[in-house]
Amino acid sequence: MPTIDDITPGPVWTTLAALVLLAAWWHSLRRVLPKMTPKRRNWMMCWTYAGFLFVLELSRPLAADEPSGRRFLLKLLILFAWALLIAIVYNIIYKNKPKMRKKIVAGNWKMNTLPAEGAELAKGVVAGRGTVCSCVDFIVCPPFTHLSTVAEALKGSDIALGAQNCAAEEKGAYTGEVSAAMIAALGCKYVILGHSERRQYYGETSATLNKKMTQAYANGLMPIYCVGENLDEREAGKHFDVVKAQIEEVVYNLTAEQFKNLVIAYEPVWAIGTGKTATAEQAQEIHAHIRKVLAAKFGVAAEECAILYGGSCKPSNAAEIFAKEDVDGGLIGGAALKADDFLAIGKGFGK
Ligand code: 13P
Repeated sequence: MPTIDDITPGPVWTTLAALVLLAAWWHSLRRVLPKMTPKRRNWMMCWTYAGFLFVLELSRPLAADEPSGRRFLLKLLILFAWALLIAIVYNIIYKNKPKMRKKIVAGNWKMNTLPAEGAELAKGVVAGRGTVCSCVDFIVCPPFTHLSTVAEALKGSDIALGAQNCAAEEKGAYTGEVSAAMIAALGCKYVILGHSERRQYYGETSATLNKKMTQAYANGLMPIYCVGENLDEREAGKHFDVVKAQIEEVVYNLTAEQFKNLVIAYEPVWAIGTGKTATAEQAQEIHAHIRKVLAAKFGVAAEECAILYGGSCKPSNAAEIFAKEDVDGGLIGGAALKADDFLAIGKGFGK
């Protein structure tokens, strides 16, 4: 039967263990931690410190007449080390994989604010941005008319700019239209496409959206492609089929490379601007379905695609919805018009 002295590591093993821990710490600090929610980050730090303490404690030599209290403590520590090792392996392999998908909070301002008000709103978001984890990507999508003013207000921050729509054609005699190249030239990185209000009021079909997607990608824009059912469809239990068709008819036409630069927003029409939100369970159920539909075409790449929830999302319900595995953030309407509310929604991650 080995004694406690036999399993206590000598200086070589202790140094090795310390080096491995240091390397893990350095790696996590640089690559993993910034992508974790604050809660997971805190846990990760606790475990790392515990690991250091453990190595320090074991590295103290045992005297022949070591008090039984210290021997007991060592046994406890060894037990703890095993538990820690098993927990880490279990977490990495089965559960709680750190969510590496982007966490996004995007504001769709719709047809609201005048240019000066938009600039103020953007400045408010910039001013409070530091209060929210840098792991959350913020996007604001003002009306076309204030894209450049807002771009100016966002300068120097990490908040991205998006447009709410773009033309289906490249350029030419299309009075009143705004091309993807034009919005890209104003500093947009994203463009919302297929919003239910555009499908409903402006007759956008999958055919139009396919053309808009082509334009968006041709100009280096990342589409935020919206899907979602209306109330009748939800009540008839057709919501799964509706979003599946909206994806198959448009997203399935993308190349694997284009798909890597796509964000999906699930916005149930009955929840938009109504104050009626989908429950977190309803959101998770359909987000998981959307991911499955994406995986059927794009395989494992579907795991990396951010799927946002939209529809009366506000500071009071964001945390519960964002906590769901397949919800990677929100596309926010009304609540994006107040900088504090918009930022508070971003704080919903990792609560
Ligand atoms: P509300 O957040 O106002 O319900 O709007 C959601 C939406 O349509 C975002 O695109």
